[in-house]
Amino acid sequence: EGTGGYRTIRVERRDRVAWIHLDRPEALNALNVQLMREVVAAATELDGDDGIGAIVVTGSERAFAAGADIKEMATKSTAEMRADGHFGGWAAFAAVRKPVIAAVSGYALGGGCELALMCDIILAADSATFGLPELSLGVIPGIGGTQRLVRALGYPKAAEIILTGRRVGAEEAERIGLISRVVPADRLLDEAQEMAASIAAKSLPALVAAKAAMDAALEMPLAEGIALETEHFTALFDTEDQQEGMAAFSEKREPRFRHR
Ligand code: HXC
Repeated sequence: EGTGGYRTIRVERRDRVAWIHLDRPEALNALNVQLMREVVAAATELDGDDGIGAIVVTGSERAFAAGADIKEMATKSTAEMRADGHFGGWAAFAAVRKPVIAAVSGYALGGGCELALMCDIILAADSATFGLPELSLGVIPGIGGTQRLVRALGYPKAAEIILTGRRVGAEEAERIGLISRVVPADRLLDEAQEMAASIAAKSLPALVAAKAAMDAALEMPLAEGIALETEHFTALFDTEDQQEGMAAFSEKREPRFRHR
């Protein structure tokens, strides 16, 4: 079942999992302004849909995304880059409340790598290559790469990857903690669906609370983050799903969450 009206992405629903397929094969899924707007519009809509518990973002076998669209940016001035909204939309994507998985095959370079880093979990095919080659273009990572890679890997490793612009293969990406897991290329979509389905089966209020609390770990001092965790934990005790989850444990059965 497709959700219509998009030209650079395809949206598909499989049970409680929604898939956003980046779909600009002629440009290796380069992220132009239109694609950014469509990804953000789709993600925002799915975020508000109680029938969806997790979102998977994927590209093609050859490319997750080869970066921001260089041809679109090449002749712009600073004023034009500011005015044309190359960045703003991605903040809304990062603010999606539900878990988002990146299923990466092929190139995840520049903005493509940064988009993957905005997701909660990165699953990669053994064919995947990551990298932030922006310095070779005379610019720097521009949709969160300098911030998220440093937070993910620590400064020393992130600095080497950003300043050299070298490509990082899937095995190394897993070893250094840039991604969650490598799978054989022909298993990528099935593994992503399986993982997303197991997440989407959880209580939706608990998923949203977990993500909000984890996000706070990147933003807040420890004591404030723990206070926020306590707040979210406590608030869940007014949900049907908390009652159901704990009752199911006592009754030795699987919970039937109502996701509210
Ligand atoms: C626009 C792109 C593109 C990009 C590829 N294409 N990447 N177009 N922007 N980022 C286009 C090519 O021009 C080509 O179109 C077609 O896709 C196929 O790519 P090829 O280069 O022919 O393929 P291949 O030789 O296999 O090389 C693949 C590649 C290379 C290694 C991924 O395309 C590449 O280096 N791409 C750029 C990677 C990069 O520098 N990304 C960072 C972008 S800056 P034609 O019409 O010639 O067939 C960035 C900043 C983020 O991301 C912040 C912005 C706000």
